[in-house]
Formats: sequence, structure tokens, C-alpha cells
Amino acid sequence: MTAQQQQQQPQQQPQQQPQQQAMVSRDAAHLVHPLHNPAAHASARVWVGGEGAYLIDADGNRFIDCLSGLWCNTAGNGRTELADAAAHQMRQMGFASGYAGSTNPRAIELAERLASLTYPNINHFYLTSGGGEATDSNIKLARYYWKLKGQPEKTKVISRIWGYHGVTFAAMCATGMAPYWEMFEPRIPGFVHIPSPYPYLYQAPDDAPSQGIAAANELEKKILEEGPETVAMFIAEPVQGAGGVLVPQDDYFPRIREICDQYDVLLVSDEVITGFGRTGCMFGLEHWGVEPDLMQFAKAVTSGYFPLGGIGISDEIATVMNESGSPWMHAYTYSSHPVGCAVALAMLDIIEKENFVDQARQKGQRLLGKLQDALADHPHVGEVRGLGLMCAVEYVKDKGTKEPFAPSDAIGPRIHAETVERGMFSRVRGDVYCIAPPIVTDEQTLDRIVEILAEATAAVLG
Ligand SMILES: Cc1ncc(COP(=O)(O)O)c(C=O)c1O
Repeated sequence: MTAQQQQQQPQQQPQQQPQQQAMVSRDAAHLVHPLHNPAAHASARVWVGGEGAYLIDADGNRFIDCLSGLWCNTAGNGRTELADAAAHQMRQMGFASGYAGSTNPRAIELAERLASLTYPNINHFYLTSGGGEATDSNIKLARYYWKLKGQPEKTKVISRIWGYHGVTFAAMCATGMAPYWEMFEPRIPGFVHIPSPYPYLYQAPDDAPSQGIAAANELEKKILEEGPETVAMFIAEPVQGAGGVLVPQDDYFPRIREICDQYDVLLVSDEVITGFGRTGCMFGLEHWGVEPDLMQFAKAVTSGYFPLGGIGISDEIATVMNESGSPWMHAYTYSSHPVGCAVALAMLDIIEKENFVDQARQKGQRLLGKLQDALADHPHVGEVRGLGLMCAVEYVKDKGTKEPFAPSDAIGPRIHAETVERGMFSRVRGDVYCIAPPIVTDEQTLDRIVEILAEATAAVLG
């Protein structure tokens, strides 16, 4: 079993009470789940309620929602503002087409708000139902853009190992984790991967100016290998999330921007997790003063209360599209959904009024410091890392050599199971425990996250 396959293993084993067990049996009879895995699902939790940073299961147990659902629920559960915005819009108009020739006030307002919040050069938005659709939209837009620019051979997509961009077919090809594509081969030709900057593990050559520059130069190497005239775009998360919270070196993205400019490759920032405050900036690349050509977002734009995502398009690309004289033949039924846009507008109010950016920065610093105090000296903790309220602890067999545990030791899943026993729920990537609680999580609960993880670590690793 490879480290990546280990990710698919059962993540929790605690006993359910009969009522919850009965629901899981009914579930198994008819529901197919994302990452469907009957063995893992036998011990599933049935979530029936939520209060702020806590989730409640069908047996009445409370768990710290240590991953904000799936990195999305930054505002926490029970936000009546979001429920009211959805109900109000549903009463007024549940749905209307967003195809060219139709629009609605909430979508117009949302695009205006996004233009004022995102990178200065990004002022045009196409809305989707989630992150994977956003990835596909950006890939199709990048290809279309280069055709309009008279360079139709620029079609290739470069992304990174450990990058996650969703699992619709094109997004899956960009995602840099083999278990997500192996059973669906063949992939679309023209999707290639480079190593991640991964400060803990990336090996830079001895003569490299820095680890970050060496990791960024992997992009230049790949562009030259493929031929710059064939490469349309490079897509990257500012901080890789599902790949194990990989925070790049400070010089990584500035060098990536230079390389993209030099070879006419569009830089696409996947902000599906990092967008709307999570890392302590409104958007991730702001940390390094870099602007992308295209961006994408989802999750926290509605705090997960409604499935909504989108792409942000630079003025330059939008001008080329607008002047093409032909329609962009790309469309989703739920693009510009009035209810989704109403929820997103209410969420942007929360983000601004409650100053999510500052909250994530301050709480993230405190959380990371406490995680480091509690765990960094443990003989099997290789690294404690994070940016804003996005942290991870990576476990290794040998701290000195960074040798990983054998996947069959299932250290990550066992630590996860111990945290569940203690009332906390998250996800692991192999032996990396991910921590990204709601931005509204109070300090006492943040401290409890550290305590639970330290106890779980001791229970599994001594
Ligand atoms: C960075 C990133 N991009 C894209 C996606 C795909 O989003 P969705 O699951 O909404 O299709 C995800 C989902 O976790 C993500 O983390």
C-alpha cells in the first residue's frame, strides 16, 4: 500500500449506538459516497446538528469540527444570517437562468463585491457550483484565451504533485495524487506535474540559491521540457490543503510569477481553501505580493451553506474574451444561482464585519505556537506547520532521517481514531494530521484541539 493509498483507509473506528448504527445501515443500502469505501463507512458518523465549531452526531455526541467540515465552514454552524439570506431569496425567486441573456441582482452584487475583494487585476467572475467545476472552467478558459491570441497549440496544464484541484475529469488530471486517477485511466493528454515546494521534504540541489527558488525552477524546467509554445497554464494552491498543508517558502511564488511571465504561461491561483481569510490574508498569494492571471474559489465563499464556487478573470483576459465576437461555449445550469449568490453576499458581510482575516491570523499564530510547544519535540513528529488557521502535524518514523512510517502501520488513521474517541473530527493525508477549524472557533476550543492531538499522539506513539 502506498502512502497515497493510505489516505483512503478508514479514518475512525469508535462504536456507534444502535440508533446511529441503524441509520448507517440504511445509508449503506442506497447511498454512494465521495471516496466510496464500505469498510471505512461502517463506522461512519451521522451528523445531525452543529453549533459554532462543534458537530453533533445522531447519538448526541459533540465533536470539535477540526476541519470546518471539508475546509469550508469558516463561519461555523448555526449562522442564522446565512439561513435567512437563503430563505429570503428562495421566497422571492428560487431560480432563474444565468446564461447570457439572463441575469439576477444577487449575482450582479456578488460580482461587484468580489471585484473589490480579490486581487486588483481580477475584476470579472464566472460562477460555478463548486471547486472542481471552477478548475475545469479555468482550464477551458485558458485554452480558449490562447486560441484567441493566435497560439492554439498552447494547451498543456502544469500542476504539482500533492496539489488537489477536484475530481471532475479535467480537474482530476490536474490533481497531483495518483490514487485519484489510477482507476480512471487514461487521463487527458497534456497534463503534467512538477514536485511541490514542500519545505520539509523538497531536496534542492547544493548549488541552488534557495530551496524555494529551486522548487519554483522546477516549473521552468518542465516548461522548457514540454516546449513553452505548448503550455497554457500553471495551476497551484497558495498553500496546498488536501496534500497536507504545504506552506511554500517566501521566495517561491514571486519566482513562479517571473517564470510564468517569461514563458507566457497563465498563473492560476486555486484559492478554494485559501480564499476569504483562511490563511490570514483575504487571498493566499497576497502573502507574497503576487497577482495571478486567473483564480478560483468555492467553499468559504458561502461557508459551505450553499454549493457555490467560481473563477476570477484578469482584465486582460476578460478583454480578449469580450472582443472575440463569438460566445464562450461553456455553461452550468447553476451558474449565478440567485440563492447561492444571496448566501455568499451574507457571508461576505460576516467576513468583513467579524474581521475574519485578522481573526484567522491571530488565532492561527496562537494555535501554531501551542501545537509547536506541545508536539514539536515528540520523537515521531517530523514537522508542525501552518499559515493562518491552516495547520498540520506530520508524523515520521525517524525524525533524524525523516524516514516515513510504513503505510501498513496506519499511524495517521490511528491518531485520527484516537482524536475521534476524544471528541474531535478531521482528516489525515497519510501520516499528516490536518487542522483547519472554523475561523470563529474560540481560544478555549483551539487549546482543546492541541490537548486532544497531543493525547492522541501519546496514545499511538508513546
Ligand atoms: C484547492 C481545491 N481545489 C478544488 C477543490 C475541488 O472542489 P469541489 O470538491 O467543490 O469540486 C478542492 C476541494 O477540496 C480544493 O481543496
